[in-house]
Amino acid sequence: MTQRLLVRDLAQLATPAGSEAPLRSRSLGEVEVLEDAFVLCAGETIEAVGRMRDLSPLDGDVVELDGRGLSALAGLVDCHTHTAFGGDRVDEFSLRAGGASYEELHAAGGGILSTVRATRAAGEDGLRAAVERHRDWMSREGTTTFEGKSGYGLDRDTELASLRAIRDAGGVPTWLGAHAVPPEFDDADAYLDFALAEVLPEAAQIAEAADVFLERGAFDATQARRYLEACRDAGLALRLHGDQFTESGAIPLAIELGARSVDHLEATGEEGIRALAASDVVGVLLPASALFLDRTMPPARALVDAGAAIALATDFNPGSAFCESLPLVCSLACTQLHLSPAEALNACTINAAHVLGRADRIGRLAPGYRADIALLDTPDWRYLAYHLGGRVVAQVVIGGELA
Ligand code: NIG
Ligand code: FE
Repeated sequence: MTQRLLVRDLAQLATPAGSEAPLRSRSLGEVEVLEDAFVLCAGETIEAVGRMRDLSPLDGDVVELDGRGLSALAGLVDCHTHTAFGGDRVDEFSLRAGGASYEELHAAGGGILSTVRATRAAGEDGLRAAVERHRDWMSREGTTTFEGKSGYGLDRDTELASLRAIRDAGGVPTWLGAHAVPPEFDDADAYLDFALAEVLPEAAQIAEAADVFLERGAFDATQARRYLEACRDAGLALRLHGDQFTESGAIPLAIELGARSVDHLEATGEEGIRALAASDVVGVLLPASALFLDRTMPPARALVDAGAAIALATDFNPGSAFCESLPLVCSLACTQLHLSPAEALNACTINAAHVLGRADRIGRLAPGYRADIALLDTPDWRYLAYHLGGRVVAQVVIGGELA
């Protein structure tokens, strides 16, 4: 018999309003809030949500969870993370604290390439253990679905092992085959010849999407186009890291190729904002990365006001954002990006689910959606963003089970 779980007597329940996705403009700021509420789960699915006074008597065995003093949100969706890596970059972090720049360290063979060395050395078991550890950190912060990128292997075996580790830990795998040019290749084109011929055919069997780092010192727009077109032809959805340090044509390319998202956008100017707003591509904003690297924040308010669809994510990775907390990202969204708590919540639930092609299943507390719930230790759901760096998540329900 299907196990039922009733989360009862919740002080508040907050969920993206309506049923469409992605939300933009005014609807991005609309959240439905119920006081004295319940969520009823049947197996992995939400059966009903509502006010306690409207809860009809339930027959049969029901496990009850006391929600007094708590608020319930849809489980948070982190649509941009780099979870599959070995080692750390704490030495580099210290050097940056002393004034070295991220791009200088990258150009000197440190940065991403130092994590490539550690990731290749970790082996498949080491990578699996790392991804599971990172997933558990995220889940403690309320994340019930995470996307994870490869991109620190950059050889066939380590890229495929990274994708398998992400998939087997329950993540949504993205092949970031074009993250950097590994040291055994002289140039980006030679590396892409290899990656597209030797890695893509199997990566496309595991990953759902492909991603490219379109940036000075990584891949240019011509190389990014070649990589993305081949990945699209192999059946993958498309994502881009773009406009992180310089505007290099990521937005027009994303629009032309029908990408799901273009992520970062710290350097995006007015023309990019207008183009993105007129398109179906979601701008994924990563304020923890801008903070961690002490860079300008992305023009979030201008994007939202122009009508662009945006999502928020952590960018969790060892170099530019060693941060797994979406609640902290929501705090940054409100204090640095000038979004409202409701805009922040919708951006890391339903809009992030849309980026992962799952907006019909996750990102809302509504009948028929997956029973993924973040329970906050506070009677006002806006503590999600208000409690800067605090432990706001009391418990997490994943697929109808307490995690
Ligand atoms: O999203 N910008 C490219 N990739 C990652 C950082 C990777 C790293 O520094 O290891 C990012 O910021
Ligand atoms: Fe990233």
